Amino acid sequence: MGYAQRTSLAPEGDIRELTLADLPLFQSHLLRLSPASRRDRFNGFTDDVFVSAYAARCFSSDATVLAFVVDGTIRGAAELHVCRPGNRDAAEIAFSVEDALQHRGVGAALFASLVARARAMGCTTLHVTTHAQNGAMKALARKFGASLCFQSVEAVGVIDLCKALPPVATVLVDDPARAAAFPENPGSLCFSDGEATRQEGCEGRCGASAKSG
Ligand SMILES: CC(C)(COP(=O)(O)OP(=O)(O)OC[C@H]1O[C@@H](n2cnc3c(N)ncnc32)[C@H](O)[C@@H]1OP(=O)(O)O)[C@@H](O)C(=O)NCCC(=O)NCCS
Repeated sequence: MGYAQRTSLAPEGDIRELTLADLPLFQSHLLRLSPASRRDRFNGFTDDVFVSAYAARCFSSDATVLAFVVDGTIRGAAELHVCRPGNRDAAEIAFSVEDALQHRGVGAALFASLVARARAMGCTTLHVTTHAQNGAMKALARKFGASLCFQSVEAVGVIDLCKALPPVATVLVDDPARAAAFPENPGSLCFSDGEATRQEGCEGRCGASAKSG
């Protein structure tokens, strides 16, 4: 089956990092996702209590949450959860865009901002997990250079931030406004030694999916 082509541009909005004070806005955003989008986001069924508690945990853990904000309302979010507390090498990322704004480029803008933020924090590897049928998330991950592998019903994408991103992603990430918002961490270095160990260590520990959240 085909999918809805992009028909209109996203409305004007800002992407900014959330703080604890934004928790009610973030909870409302996640709760507004349609049942299908919520299932896609959390890789399974989740009720409102879980979703609200999950949003709260994002601010009590080592997570970074960026949001696409339109007229004071959060319409999309990008989360980064470090895989090991106190160690920013590897992180799991997750995205949510409200249904009315999907396929209008908001996911790509959030992805680019999250990559810029992750680099500034010194992350070298990003993981994204979704179910194997999630065409939009897989397309988005591939756009940013993820190599995808399929494990049972899940697609697991790995983005190596030490490697050059695909040209289309580079243009998005290197947007001057993004660079100014998240200046590169001068102390961050990319190491390839031991990367496999870090990736294994990430599995199941990050807070981005319902299973581990
Ligand atoms: C996945 C999600 C974040 C993508 O956000 P978005 O704003 O719709 O993404 P964009 O519009 O920036 O880009 C989506 C890309 O996927 C493509 N796409 C959409 N549906 C597709 C499908 N079924 N098959 C293949 N590609 C598809 C679009 O064409 C677009 O690519 P393009 O820019 O090259 O045209 C959003 O759909 C969402 O929140 N879904 C529900 C929650 C979810 O699935 N989260 C991911 C789990 S972590």
